[in-house]
Amino acid sequence: MSSASFLRMVGRRNIREVAGDDHRRVRAMMARFLRLDAVKNYVSAMDDEVRRHLRAEWSGRAAVAVMPSMKSLTFDVMCTVLFGLERRGDHAAVRRELSSEFQQLVRGIWAVPVNLPFTTFGKCLAASRRGRRAVARIVEERRRAMMPRGGGDLVTHMLAEGMDEEEIIDNVVFLMVAAHDTTAVLLTFLLRHLDGNRAAYERVAAEQEAIATQRRRRGGSGSGSALTWDDLAGMRYTWAAAMETLRMVPPTFANMRKAVADVEVGGYVIPKGWQVITAATMTHLDPAIFPDPGRFEPARFEAAEAKAKAAPPFSYVPFGGGARVCPGNEFARAETLVAMHYIVTGFRWRLAAGCDGGFSRHPLPCPNQGLLLDIEPKEYNEL
Ligand code: HEM
Repeated sequence: MSSASFLRMVGRRNIREVAGDDHRRVRAMMARFLRLDAVKNYVSAMDDEVRRHLRAEWSGRAAVAVMPSMKSLTFDVMCTVLFGLERRGDHAAVRRELSSEFQQLVRGIWAVPVNLPFTTFGKCLAASRRGRRAVARIVEERRRAMMPRGGGDLVTHMLAEGMDEEEIIDNVVFLMVAAHDTTAVLLTFLLRHLDGNRAAYERVAAEQEAIATQRRRRGGSGSGSALTWDDLAGMRYTWAAAMETLRMVPPTFANMRKAVADVEVGGYVIPKGWQVITAATMTHLDPAIFPDPGRFEPARFEAAEAKAKAAPPFSYVPFGGGARVCPGNEFARAETLVAMHYIVTGFRWRLAAGCDGGFSRHPLPCPNQGLLLDIEPKEYNEL
């Protein structure tokens, strides 16, 4: 259930719009690519993309605008891992085209739906059409190359499941929107919060340096060997800091649901057919649930603390909840931890002069000046 602009940009048959059996079918198909045991196999490709990105966009620079950098990183990870788009040959051009069209498409999702050539909506709709044509070409290429039992990428898998072209394109476009901006926001605000919280930064740095040392001991040093799933399992405090960032700045501002029957909540009846919006910040910033909610305190999410002071069900909802809870949460976790490992072990950072560190929502949180950081390489890093 989405806005008119969202539907025009993304298409009517994406996973968010379908219900009942159709929703279960599409969700099960995506879950095969996003569940834990599948994500374990993506760690090495994520590792390669992160190092490649930091070498190209961070090494040798004195400052970096984090938000655009993280958007381009997460877009690349998604193209490689989910859609099997290579960096060479025809695919390189397709990646560039998709990246530029999708940046524009995303702006259109929140634009006033007035379709004229000079309005934001009109321009973004044109970008959406071009982006959809590029996805259609990928679908056609995969159809021609298809093995009888499907293949390793999501589009081939969708074809093997018997989805028609329109349904595939709508879902690929949705995933391209859902899978990269959200994680880019998380990474950006995690760096921002660590800059302002020395004690938390020191603990994240110590955890990541210890993992780097273990890798060197087992012979990974300089050899380009990738992080493993076990390495990620050891990044507990880093993930607690990420969860705390998601509490304070949830990338998705609100969730929408439609009542399929009359339902009573807290003494109020929501009649069938009404639409309900829930805002994560209502509970995330409630002092009765998270004491001193304005304080960045990753320990809230460390195992022992979290167990002692468990928040009530559905009060911590950066990934939503229920039958539609985000199926990409493990993917996002792995991607965030891999990126944090190389950023933290590779660089020191602080807010650049002139960057105020504030943000506004459009409706995803956008840091002012793209979050401009001064960066400095560490003496020893494994990029
Ligand atoms: C930090 C990163 C992310 C955040 C904060 C996030 C957040 C969300 C939220 C709040 C929802 C709505 C849940 C609901 O209605 O209850 C959602 C849905 C969804 N997300 Fe994510 N997401 C993230 C990353 C990803 C990634 C990486 C992927 C895929 C690779 C993904 C795929 C999806 C899909 C397919 C849905 C629709 C699920 C459905 O309707 O059944 N997300 N996400």
